[in-house]
Amino acid sequence: MTTTLRTRVAIIGAGPAGLLLAHLLDRAGIASVVIDRRSRDEIESTIRAGILEQGTVELLDTLGPHSRARTVGHRHDGIELRFEGEGHRIDFAETVGRAVWLYPQHEVLKDLIAARLAAGQDLRFGVTAEGVEDADTTRPRVRARDADGDVLEIEADVVVGSDGSRSVARAAVTGSSQGGFFREYPFAWFGILCEAPPSADELIYSNSPDGFALVSQRSPTVQRMYFQCAPDTDTAAYSEQQLWDELQKRVPGTELLRGPIFQRDVLRFRSFVAHELRRGRVALVGDAAHTVPPTGAKGMNLAIADVRLLAEALRRLLLEDDERAFDAYPERALARIWKAQHFSWWMTSLLHVAPDATAFDRRRQVGELRSVVDSAHGRAYLAEAYCGWPFDD
Ligand code: PHB
Repeated sequence: MTTTLRTRVAIIGAGPAGLLLAHLLDRAGIASVVIDRRSRDEIESTIRAGILEQGTVELLDTLGPHSRARTVGHRHDGIELRFEGEGHRIDFAETVGRAVWLYPQHEVLKDLIAARLAAGQDLRFGVTAEGVEDADTTRPRVRARDADGDVLEIEADVVVGSDGSRSVARAAVTGSSQGGFFREYPFAWFGILCEAPPSADELIYSNSPDGFALVSQRSPTVQRMYFQCAPDTDTAAYSEQQLWDELQKRVPGTELLRGPIFQRDVLRFRSFVAHELRRGRVALVGDAAHTVPPTGAKGMNLAIADVRLLAEALRRLLLEDDERAFDAYPERALARIWKAQHFSWWMTSLLHVAPDATAFDRRRQVGELRSVVDSAHGRAYLAEAYCGWPFDD
């Protein structure tokens, strides 16, 4: 059986980018349909990133009471860079007068889904996009299949691929499912979630001879920590004791508070930017358009920055018949995307120990770290990028 549905904007993927776009379009009076192959429960329970830039929080404020970023999340006014056993605080308030919020991505998703459903808007789980057709016409279409195997065709004025790094929409834009600029790194992060209170007030990014570690947080009772590992590391290869030993030796000077580890994962490090972000009436946002390594916490924030531009471009296209902002979307988005690519690559190379690092490389790296923390300009450079470059609109 085939059902055909018409809407103004078809959005593939109910991640932060797709759901926020749907919300901003709804506020402008533009109808959309959002589909995702996952269940609501899977979306709301998958643990992902945790840091929101100030601009991201401000955009989420448009959800009204549905956004709990400021009430449940915590404002952080700085981070610590640690190297050679010493901590150096980067004070965001002092350097750039901005902040970030620690508020896990799956909580953002709960807020966005609750707002969408409360507004009675179309959001379909368990619906898998199989392809996007007719990108070069004014009636692009998404072909999808629901959990029962029935075909759903969505005809729209615009199709948006917010369907993550394994995007189905990407092929309709770039001509292939891969098509883009790509870089892989010779290390990964071993991430853990544990039941313990925070070991420190703020996040610690630690460079040590044994490799990088990040002490992050999730809530007053659950903590998130990572340490640099080989990309092919097996999560079962470490006992709990070995995990704590690995983490602790990389964060000298802070006694990590321990508790039962209830999740382990390995995060591969990749940088990717699609060759094209738009073709005809099909546009890409978020991980479908780009991937960054997690070191600067830019992934979700960059997705939201794309959406901010695209929502305004679609408002002008669909309500004012003005195509200019939609035509300019790739160029405007890419300006920020490449800044974030550079920042994520730079934070990564600044803090990790490459497997082939020589004694020269190690000393040079400490020199680079010192040139950041010893200089007001260096600290401000890092703080501005970390808190999110201001928007020019
Ligand atoms: C996290 O808490 O998951 C997190 C925080 C900061 C990062 C990356 C990940 O830079």
